[in-house]
Amino acid sequence: MFITLEGVDGAGKSSHLDWLKNWFELRGHRVRMTREPGGTPMGEKLRELVLHDSMHPDTEALIMFAARREHIEQVIRPALAAGEVVISDRFTDASFAYQCGGRGLSESRLAVLESWVHADLHPDATLLFDLPTEIAAQRLASAREPDRFEREKTDFHARVRAAYLRRAEQFPQRIRVIDGSRDIESVRLQLTSVLESLT
Ligand SMILES: Nc1ncnc2c1ncn2[C@@H]1O[C@H](COP(=O)(O)OP(=O)(O)OP(=O)(O)O)[C@@H](O)[C@H]1O
Ligand SMILES: [Mg+2]
Repeated sequence: MFITLEGVDGAGKSSHLDWLKNWFELRGHRVRMTREPGGTPMGEKLRELVLHDSMHPDTEALIMFAARREHIEQVIRPALAAGEVVISDRFTDASFAYQCGGRGLSESRLAVLESWVHADLHPDATLLFDLPTEIAAQRLASAREPDRFEREKTDFHARVRAAYLRRAEQFPQRIRVIDGSRDIESVRLQLTSVLESLT
């Protein structure tokens, strides 16, 4: 099973990684945790570039998919073939949300890259952590130094959020919306009910 976590910066995705891993392991699964951009040594170098260097929006999208190509080849497919549950902190929905919603690239362009890089591989389930962007920004403000995306203005994050919600409407079976504005315990209850419906 291939599961992805999505949501605006500070939505709370990473806060549940250990808990999610544990949830599957307790049920006898082997779990491979990974993330995007990144996931491979080359992908992590590309992550550094894309999070910190300024560049044309097309370059940004192409780097995301270049890193993804390696990630799929080296990590995701082998782990799925070995019967592991793969949990990726972000995947292609993030490209539609950030590069199309945030930066304004056309969805048809992104769709070309998607079908080039992974026409035949899609997440089985996507957990979309949704919350008002002001709450996410407040949480992040006290958490760490902002990267290139996190420094963007409020309307950028609002567009990213809206693009994620449009994806969820487009793929209601796959993308499960979690109310990320609630406290950690309540978010976990929602995650539990989604996970139980999957297995
Ligand atoms: N439900 C919650 N209630 C209150 N604070 C939370 C909640 N979930 C996460 N946080 C806090 O919000 C901050 C951001 O959370 P986290 O790093 O998990 O977000 P993220 O979605 O992974 O962000 P990014 O996309 O930037 O990696 C952290 O300081 C975390 O402790
Ligand atoms: Mg995170």
